[in-house]
Amino acid sequence: MAYSSSSLDISPKTLIGVGVGLAVAGGASYFLYHRYLQYRDAMPQKWRRVGTLQRINLFPIKSCAPLDSTPGREYDCDVLGMSIDGIRDRTLMLLDENNTMVTARGYPHMKLIKPWQVSDNGLIITAPEMPELELDFKNLESPGQDLRTSISGAPVDAKLCGDRFNKWFSQFILEKNTGLRLVHYPYPKPVKIICDDLKNMPFMRQEDSGTFNDGTSYMLMNLSSVDDLNTRLKNPVEPLQFRGGFEIKCDEHEPYAEDNWQWVRIGDEAVFRQVAPRTLCIVPNVNDNTGKRDVEGEPLKTLKSYRTFNHSSPLLGIHLGLRQPGKVKANDVVYVGEK
Ligand SMILES: *[C@@H]1O[C@H](CO)[C@@H](O)[C@H](O)[C@H]1NC(C)=O
Ligand SMILES: *[C@@H]1O[C@H](CO)[C@@H](O)[C@H](O)[C@H]1NC(C)=O
Ligand SMILES: *[C@@H]1O[C@H](CO)[C@@H](O)[C@H](O)[C@H]1NC(C)=O
Repeated sequence: MAYSSSSLDISPKTLIGVGVGLAVAGGASYFLYHRYLQYRDAMPQKWRRVGTLQRINLFPIKSCAPLDSTPGREYDCDVLGMSIDGIRDRTLMLLDENNTMVTARGYPHMKLIKPWQVSDNGLIITAPEMPELELDFKNLESPGQDLRTSISGAPVDAKLCGDRFNKWFSQFILEKNTGLRLVHYPYPKPVKIICDDLKNMPFMRQEDSGTFNDGTSYMLMNLSSVDDLNTRLKNPVEPLQFRGGFEIKCDEHEPYAEDNWQWVRIGDEAVFRQVAPRTLCIVPNVNDNTGKRDVEGEPLKTLKSYRTFNHSSPLLGIHLGLRQPGKVKANDVVYVGEK
């Protein structure tokens, strides 16, 4: 069967020697690789201004419209994601009868559902031709039932919000009385495992996976990249179609693309590590004002022609992991870390 040491005329001693040698070499390269990662993962001391934070998009309900970005208001950035007065990014989501998440991929008009913040922990949710729906995070029905669902292949538990929400969302999205259930994210910290797409990213940490986000809790976009895309499109698109949390306006003559930004600081406190480029799904093809998908498959079709590199989907923007919590607000200066 397998070669024995005697048939190859190699003494057991030699074999042990080779084995030990390999183990030492392997151990040394493993050690060096990890020292290298530690070096790359150490927070920089020097920061260079690259632009300003133009707009902040907080999406209370996955796949629905963001809160209005009010100038001057501060958003908290912590490990679970962005929040403002008890309203947190992507902590509400819709599930179908099989506990599968329901998004604008299948139901583009979900983007017309708009939450307004009315108080701490309180939202008014509106949609065309629907009565207003009030949601208070402090008084959500908690029947103690966890539903198991998954996001991008990563399992996660969610809690039901209550029947009146199910009815309202089913009515608007499916035009039926039932079929959908609104769930909320009940945990004080990120519990999702890293999704398959990001599993091999060396700087990605489990806690970067956020709440009901597809990949990570934070996503940054360079608005000039959208301007550049728009020069190639017949019908220009709004940056919001890409659903980035942070929209950055870069200073002129900035020679680096955000693809190369390893560390980003916004304002004085909040520091982020780039953990992955952002690959796009089909949702950016849905117009936020009409809730309709582009019939010609734009802007993804054009992006695919020049922003795919070696990925199957085009790349735009970057995924960030929080490395130092802090507050951010519109017009904050954005810095890139230098070693
Ligand atoms: C739920 O699963 C069943 C069985 O696989 C399937 O027939 C049904 O269409 C699914 N429902 C939805 C909304 O996808
Ligand atoms: C922003 O995007 C533009 C257009 O793609 C690019 O030329 C510029 O280098 C980018 N800036 C940064 C800082 O990423
Ligand atoms: C794409 O893959 C080819 C072959 O593996 C490689 O030579 C090239 O550098 C890659 N390009 C990018 C942009 O990663």
